[in-house]
Amino acid sequence: MQSNGLIAIIGAMDCEVELLKKILENAEEIQAGRFSILKGKIGKHEVVVAKSGVGKVCAASCTQFLVDKFSPECIINTGIAGGTSEVLSVGDVVIATDLVQHDFDASDLGYAKGYMCNGIEPNKPTVYHADKNLIEAFEKSAEKCFDKKKLHKGRIASGDMFVGNAAKKMQIKELFNTTAVEMEGAAIAQAAYLNNTPFLIVRAISDLADGTAAGSLEEFEYKSAQITSSILHSMLTEEI
Ligand code: ADE
Repeated sequence: MQSNGLIAIIGAMDCEVELLKKILENAEEIQAGRFSILKGKIGKHEVVVAKSGVGKVCAASCTQFLVDKFSPECIINTGIAGGTSEVLSVGDVVIATDLVQHDFDASDLGYAKGYMCNGIEPNKPTVYHADKNLIEAFEKSAEKCFDKKKLHKGRIASGDMFVGNAAKKMQIKELFNTTAVEMEGAAIAQAAYLNNTPFLIVRAISDLADGTAAGSLEEFEYKSAQITSSILHSMLTEEI
């Protein structure tokens, strides 16, 4: 990646933060508020890595905290997601093009589900667009160290809800035209947007959001963290 500014990475899981710690040079731990943050270097970039905790409130609070404390040039979030598109398999990676909050619902006031009462297009769900340059940089790095057929781009929907049944999954997919669902991405996107900070959300598919794979989630967390941290490592060390 071309730029030199500080990059904030938000990981949803302990194992992810642990893996990123291994590739951080001169890592120092910063305890600030209730967030545990690591600061160091990857390639020529100053990087901070934070574990947000699960759900939209944790994710948005962590994002705002990182913006206030470090003024990052961009925010990157990695983790796992449930696939909602039929082309996805467990182990694939989805790069979010844009994100929506599927549980934001003012439809009893006559608005579209997912419309966030911001005065812009009340008949459509509100979406936050990820940064095109970051998407491109991640894609290029992934093509070198990951199977291209397993790399996808599309809309991610987030909500304070684990989606583990086929009916719920179909409802979200049909309403919001999603590729994957998870529990933090769109909150990070909204907080980053409000701070005029470019962001990238990438997720490894751990299940198909239909209840068939809940037992294997923990096992998959480590594998997914390995996939996304190795792609991130090459993205931050390459001059592309
Ligand atoms: N994260 C991983 N899988 C998920 C699912 N099915 N629903 C919400 N968040 C997830």
